[in-house]
Amino acid sequence: MTIVELIRAFGRDLPVGILITDASIERPGPIIVYANSAFGRLVGRDPDEIIGQSPRFMQGKETRQATLDAFHRALRAGERFHGYLTNYRGDGTKYRAEIDCRPLRNVCGEIEGFISFEREVARRIGRPFESRGGRYEAISISNDLLGDALRSLGVFSSGDANSRPPQSAALF
Ligand SMILES: Cc1cc2nc3c(=O)[nH]c(=O)nc-3n(C[C@H](O)[C@H](O)[C@H](O)COP(=O)(O)O)c2cc1C
Repeated sequence: MTIVELIRAFGRDLPVGILITDASIERPGPIIVYANSAFGRLVGRDPDEIIGQSPRFMQGKETRQATLDAFHRALRAGERFHGYLTNYRGDGTKYRAEIDCRPLRNVCGEIEGFISFEREVARRIGRPFESRGGRYEAISISNDLLGDALRSLGVFSSGDANSRPPQSAALF
């Protein structure tokens, strides 16, 4: 079973958006090879429609170039990118996305693709961003077992985006 098949099997009904791309970083890559239904709902597109496209289709006027550059550098270095971007839906509306993107490595350590967990967040009102929980909060929070599993994998956390600004998010 390949990594993508594995994620396809358990990611289908997860309440968090999952996107998998191939390992190509330079245009026209990275190319989307899998999106779960929560990702389709997040971005307002049929998941099957976006297979074969690059995640750049979500970018628009307010998508910050400095953050995209940090994203690109992280992908090139084979490192995790955890930050926030303004993404655009199929109908042109924008949303703030928290993106936790990691390389998928095979047993030899070679990068076979990238996986990102994505969710919509909203800016916290009336709290300094240094406070516990950070500058943003999730629009919907799941308390199910899979949510617990993601938390135990450190998805959307790890002492950066939720407690202090990660290097990439500090660019906002
Ligand atoms: C798995 C994965 C998910 C991504 N999700 C997004 C996204 O939601 N929004 C976005 O603007 N870019 C996203 N990107 C980043 C773009 O594909 C691209 O890497 C970014 O624009 C920086 O590279 P560039 O300077 O070549 O455009 C994602 C990349 C990967 C690998």
